Amino acid sequence: MLATALTATLAGLQAHLVRVEVEARRGPPTFELVGLAEAAVRESRVRVRSALAQLGVHLSECQVIVNLAPADVRKTGSGFDLAIAAAALGALGAAPRDAIEGALLVGELSLEGTVQPLRGVLPQLLEARRRGVARAIVPRANSAEAALVDGLDVRTVGSLAELLSALCGRSELPRAAAVAETSPARALDDLVDVRGQSAARRALEIAAAGGHNLLMIGPPGSGKTMLARRLPGILPALTNEQALEVTAIHSVAGLLSASRGLSRARPFRAPHHTVSEIGLVGGGDGPRPGEVSLAHAGVLFLDELAEIRRGALEALRQPLEDGVVTISRAHGKATFPARLLLVGAMNPCPCGWLGDGSGRCACAPERIRAYRAKVSGPLLDRIDVHVVLPPVEVAALQGPARGEGSEAVRARVERAAAIQRERHARGEVNAATNAALGPRDLDRVAPLCADGARMLAAAVDRLGLSARAYGKVLRVARTLADLEGAAAVGPAHVAEAIGLRVLDRGALAAAA
Ligand SMILES: Nc1ncnc2c1ncn2[C@@H]1O[C@H](COP(=O)(O)OP(=O)(O)OP(=O)(O)O)[C@@H](O)[C@H]1O
Ligand SMILES: [Mg+2]
Repeated sequence: MLATALTATLAGLQAHLVRVEVEARRGPPTFELVGLAEAAVRESRVRVRSALAQLGVHLSECQVIVNLAPADVRKTGSGFDLAIAAAALGALGAAPRDAIEGALLVGELSLEGTVQPLRGVLPQLLEARRRGVARAIVPRANSAEAALVDGLDVRTVGSLAELLSALCGRSELPRAAAVAETSPARALDDLVDVRGQSAARRALEIAAAGGHNLLMIGPPGSGKTMLARRLPGILPALTNEQALEVTAIHSVAGLLSASRGLSRARPFRAPHHTVSEIGLVGGGDGPRPGEVSLAHAGVLFLDELAEIRRGALEALRQPLEDGVVTISRAHGKATFPARLLLVGAMNPCPCGWLGDGSGRCACAPERIRAYRAKVSGPLLDRIDVHVVLPPVEVAALQGPARGEGSEAVRARVERAAAIQRERHARGEVNAATNAALGPRDLDRVAPLCADGARMLAAAVDRLGLSARAYGKVLRVARTLADLEGAAAVGPAHVAEAIGLRVLDRGALAAAA
């Protein structure tokens, strides 16, 4: 007999529905699986055979053929087991076939027949809903993320025996149950702890307000890591759509636990500087999202930027430009969103003390040049805001004055971000943050007055700004105007934005 079931596979964050057709008849025992299945999917046969045997369903006198359709979609992962086992039960007459058809079934089986949790359940359910599927059955351990998808009857299952009993109408599977959202942990890292460093604080606020990438350069212990960790706390709240996207990415990465619901907190990722290219941008088996995608809608903090492998840094260029990562594979492509805020930190020289006023830096000029050259021009070009941190003065550390808290800064950031979102909603521009504005958007929302234009022309001459850097100055100037609530970009905004291109200005070279 022939029975069919519905399941799904992932290519990046995009799920594709897969129809499982199982034909079973008496004959010499065979178990074939066709339809562009990767090794992990083919292993399914072993698990399904064993799990069925636990139910007393033996395939020792059966010819079983499994076809996965459509044949041109590459099937990856171990989540096909449940659908194959269910369709096999239908094909063998052990369960009613109409109870199996039409429902999305995802889950990996153990040899004993327990249903194991799976990566990527959330995007699979979202795709099923989009395609009009009305029912789904997922592993019980994925209950929390499954409950985020409404408009679909989602049930959870713990074992194949439980599924069989439900398919035969002897019992009912429980609905996916929602758990509390994970909310931003604001109390932990607050800007109130940061003393002095007014320029870096300002740069952090600008970066947060417009979504601009930021580079901090300063001696050891000046507060670079400290400031970067406080950035998520001043970013605007995630929209519902962003929260769902962030949760889906973490689901595909296998980072959601049963107790985690919707991720409301802005991601903060700080990979070690030994991170590989695949670790950073994604790939490998699956493929899995890299740090740039795990940081989507949040912050990617690259400490010790100059120590990161060249290849890994260069691989950042494309996602930083496009806001998505595309991973080419033998059959088609996988894409993950990667619209993130990059924060880099580095010392001004190999020993770290250059320009701190104590004169203890003994780095030779060529070593300093080689150190800086590790962060290539094209990458620097993609960083809108550069800031130099001086050493923290004792007076600032000992004085009574504490810094402004994150709550107050976030209120200003929220206001500036709301202005940008409204411009986008009105259709004036094609991006919801200034950092992502296109060239034509800039003409429309950041036209220069005569003074601003003169100033910028002079800066291009003096600093040799690239066309990309020119656009970045305009984007940052727009953010400065938005922080003030000013309708037009004025000369003061342009001047401050040029001042934030420290590396182009060669200010560090002067310090050397
Ligand atoms: N501006 C500051 N205000 C208050 N404390 C500070 C400040 N800067 C540094 N500190 C103290 O010094 C510690 C180290 O700071 P942090 O790790 O941010 O330095 P860093 O600039 O990242 O140094 P490195 O270059 O070595 O990575 C902090 O945990 C904090 O206790
Ligand atoms: Mg540090």
